[in-house]
Amino acid sequence: MGLVEAEAVVKHFPITKGFLRRRVGEVKAVDGVNLSIKEGATLALVGESGSGKTTLARVILRLLPATSGRVSFDGREITTLDDGALRAVRQKMQIVFQNPASSLNPRRRINEIIEEPLLIHRVGTPGERRRRVGELLERVELPSQDFMFRYPHSLSGGQRQRVAIARALALDPRFIVLDEPTSALDVSVQAKIITLLRRLQRDMGLTYLVISHDLSLVRNVADVIAVMYLGRVVETAAVAALFGDPKHPYTRALLSAIPTVSDEESALIPEKITLGGEIPSPASVPSGCAFHPRCYARIEGCDRVTPELVRVGPDHHASCILYDPAHGAPGLHGGGSSGMD
Ligand SMILES: Nc1ncnc2c1ncn2[C@@H]1O[C@H](COP(=O)(O)OP(=O)(O)O)[C@@H](O)[C@H]1O
Ligand SMILES: [Mg+2]
Repeated sequence: MGLVEAEAVVKHFPITKGFLRRRVGEVKAVDGVNLSIKEGATLALVGESGSGKTTLARVILRLLPATSGRVSFDGREITTLDDGALRAVRQKMQIVFQNPASSLNPRRRINEIIEEPLLIHRVGTPGERRRRVGELLERVELPSQDFMFRYPHSLSGGQRQRVAIARALALDPRFIVLDEPTSALDVSVQAKIITLLRRLQRDMGLTYLVISHDLSLVRNVADVIAVMYLGRVVETAAVAALFGDPKHPYTRALLSAIPTVSDEESALIPEKITLGGEIPSPASVPSGCAFHPRCYARIEGCDRVTPELVRVGPDHHASCILYDPAHGAPGLHGGGSSGMD
């Protein structure tokens, strides 16, 4: 049992029209996701923009109500908790957003920004809070003497993201969602933030859900990767298996777009796969396998059959008709070369 479990999570946003807000459709942002994140581990959620990653994270943190499905934290279902019980759980689950420029209040000094969660949850005396802010700044490698009383605008992007991380750590959480934590930063700064996050994880026993559209970035951070496409997980595996033996045509396409894969890995992807077209809108998800209109390995039936996520190896699951025994796939392990290479 993981520290964080998502079971059949669905989040649909209604599309309404006109003055009476008549419901004319829905955006299927998240459409039946199961996830399990082990304590102390990092799960990376990867996929193109619009695939539902942020929405799923917000439902997991109960910042958004689920349309259906269940989320549990440390063995306790949180989908149905009332506000009082939720408040206690919230302290243990935090989020760091993509853009530290907009997630930090420009009118507050750094010490006030980091102290805010402590004040909201009424933790400690003023003196204790001051010391705690100092400790947190040291933890994220910002000397407290230099940074305590500055405003966000006087900090670099990387320093601001360190402040956002310090604030997320203030209440001693067990689980942190990092939503595109480095995509607003330069490559050299990205690497430093990743190193910091890994060190904090090790020192504090943190569990992470890292969201990224960039597979090459999560390779150095994650233990397990879940690839999302239009609201569903299409493949999930440990990092080594996902990079070494990708099964889903979409995962292969994402991997082939990474310039730095080794020769061994690129041998598995015989040619560079270029996906045609854009990711469709989740307001009109294609029939059958949602990926079929863009799939280079498409066969007869892909526009009709919605493939289940099935086991394709040890702790490795993929949802593609080529592996789905219910639709004539050869079954475990044997499906790897059927029509895909
Ligand atoms: N509050 C909302 N109301 C309506 N649609 C939304 C809302 N939030 C997100 N969406 C839609 O849900 C889909 C998934 O968005 P998001 O979860 O932000 O994807 P990602 O983080 O993978 O880029 C997008 O089509 C987005 O426009
Ligand atoms: Mg997002």
